[in-house]
Amino acid sequence: TTIRDQTGIISSASRSDNTPTTVKMHSFLLLSGLLGLASAAPAITTRQSTPQDPGSIPRHSGSRGFRLRVNVTDPSSDLNPPVHNLFLSTAHIGPAQNRAIVSSSGPIFYQNGSYADIANYRAGILTDAGSAESPFPEALQYQPGSDETKGSELFISAGTPGAGTAISKLTSPYSTLRILEDAPVVSSFIVCGNETIPYYGESRKFEVVNWLVATRDATGTHIRVPEGCVAVTLVPECAYEFGELPEGAAYDRTFANDVRCYESVGAIDWSQYPY
Ligand SMILES: *[C@@H]1O[C@H](CO)[C@@H](O)[C@H](O)[C@H]1NC(C)=O
Ligand SMILES: *[C@@H]1O[C@H](CO)[C@@H](O)[C@H](O)[C@H]1NC(C)=O
Ligand SMILES: *[C@@H]1O[C@H](CO)[C@@H](O)[C@H](O)[C@H]1NC(C)=O
Repeated sequence: TTIRDQTGIISSASRSDNTPTTVKMHSFLLLSGLLGLASAAPAITTRQSTPQDPGSIPRHSGSRGFRLRVNVTDPSSDLNPPVHNLFLSTAHIGPAQNRAIVSSSGPIFYQNGSYADIANYRAGILTDAGSAESPFPEALQYQPGSDETKGSELFISAGTPGAGTAISKLTSPYSTLRILEDAPVVSSFIVCGNETIPYYGESRKFEVVNWLVATRDATGTHIRVPEGCVAVTLVPECAYEFGELPEGAAYDRTFANDVRCYESVGAIDWSQYPY
């Protein structure tokens, strides 16, 4: 599996742990090479187009509201049944607490934060929960899971947004959900099938969404996507019906900002773009 990331391209040693050392070394060198390039020389001469060239990135729009579409970056490793093009959604696990799952429909999210919040990765990804008459905000959050091979578990719950959760800045060629803290860690969202969670107090299986960061060892830096999981990106699809809050709501839209989103993520032919 090749995982593309803003910071470079690395191979995940997902299928087995006996990947030949040479392959891992190669990935590591490739990653180091790209990181070097990124910091030293933004102009990459081997490419015929840059993100600024019209046509080299998918056509996008801007909207405050968006849904997040699951994009399986290596279609050959999709789960069974497939999760490609499903939506990031919520499964109720407690009062104002939801595990992030994938589903055939999903809520409208928005990015909330001042200009400074966004510049410093302190914005939040929020959605309106509760009833239409008396809504309250829930935020995308993450915390270490019980199975560390599956990284951090994503939640959409009341409370403070997870650090660094944001839609990628205009400097990246694609618009995707990202979790960036102080250091640019190589990471990926993953979807894991058949995970049991306490849905409305009952055990039920879902395809859940987690966030996995690369591990570094003697042979290099790898994202090890566990068996039963698949690496994905979460791509904003414009939702213009995102509206105003009812009179007297306890919060407002002052800091809901426009994000770069796509009209129809499923209709994008990614093979036309060089990234
Ligand atoms: C979406 O997945 C395709 C493979 O199906 C990949 O080529 C493309 O880069 C992905 N796009 C994003 C934004 O992750
Ligand atoms: C949105 O961002 C502003 C500016 O940082 C903050 O004051 C406000 O509490 C945030 N709204 C929510 C619902 O978190
Ligand atoms: C979940 O389990 C069912 C029954 O064993 C299986 O058919 C299905 O492929 C599994 N789903 C995933 C995503 O692994």
